[in-house]
Amino acid sequence: MSADITELKRQAAEKAVEFVQSGMVVGLGTGSTAVHAVRAVGRLLKSGELQNIVAIPTSEATACEAESLQIPLVTFDEHPKVDITIDGADEIAPNLDVIKGLGGALLREKIVAAASRRFVIVADHTKRVPQLGSKAPVPVEVISFAEQPVSDYLESLGARVVKRMDEDGERPFRTDENNIILDCYLSPIVNPQQIAAAIRQQPGVVEHGLFLNMATDAVLATPDGIEHLTHE
Ligand code: A5P
Repeated sequence: MSADITELKRQAAEKAVEFVQSGMVVGLGTGSTAVHAVRAVGRLLKSGELQNIVAIPTSEATACEAESLQIPLVTFDEHPKVDITIDGADEIAPNLDVIKGLGGALLREKIVAAASRRFVIVADHTKRVPQLGSKAPVPVEVISFAEQPVSDYLESLGARVVKRMDEDGERPFRTDENNIILDCYLSPIVNPQQIAAAIRQQPGVVEHGLFLNMATDAVLATPDGIEHLTHE
């Protein structure tokens, strides 16, 4: 990844952290953009600029990062509502619908996003698309036992289905919940609501990476500056 893109990711994430106030319950996203927000929250807590923050992580990886920064982690048992969640995305449509999950954490990400009063997407400008599915697949988290019937079903919806593998390419990728992911290429998606509803109907599907009507804000870093978009 170019240094420029990494810098843009950092800028977007740090801008979004300006929305965090002392005393908030914060959802911590997953991925190479959201990690900059986690680090910024850690820094601000350490310096005392933010106080009494507690956080709910969206993956084991983010939990490890947060713990290393001494960000206090809590669960939904203690805090069922999240004030603000800052997370990345793989594609962002003009209406702030997004595709998430290329990092594999879409299930917990969607649970945390759904519990959030404010859900802020952070990204560099390359994630912007005119229509979802233009570049990225829709990741579908599936119980391993149901792989074949779910795969057949997703193909019947018009998807080209690719089972996600670990980085070494030898074993299936496993999520934090020990499920598999089927990446569905549907390019581009004409009616995201319809396809999302159809994907959900198949037994064995745990969750999908279409986050529709969930984001309240997007902070996009471009070479010309930062854009803050809000959901209408
Ligand atoms: C993690 O499962 C994903 O939803 C990420 O938020 C998404 O893939 C964006 O990741 P990057 O910020 O690393 O591009």
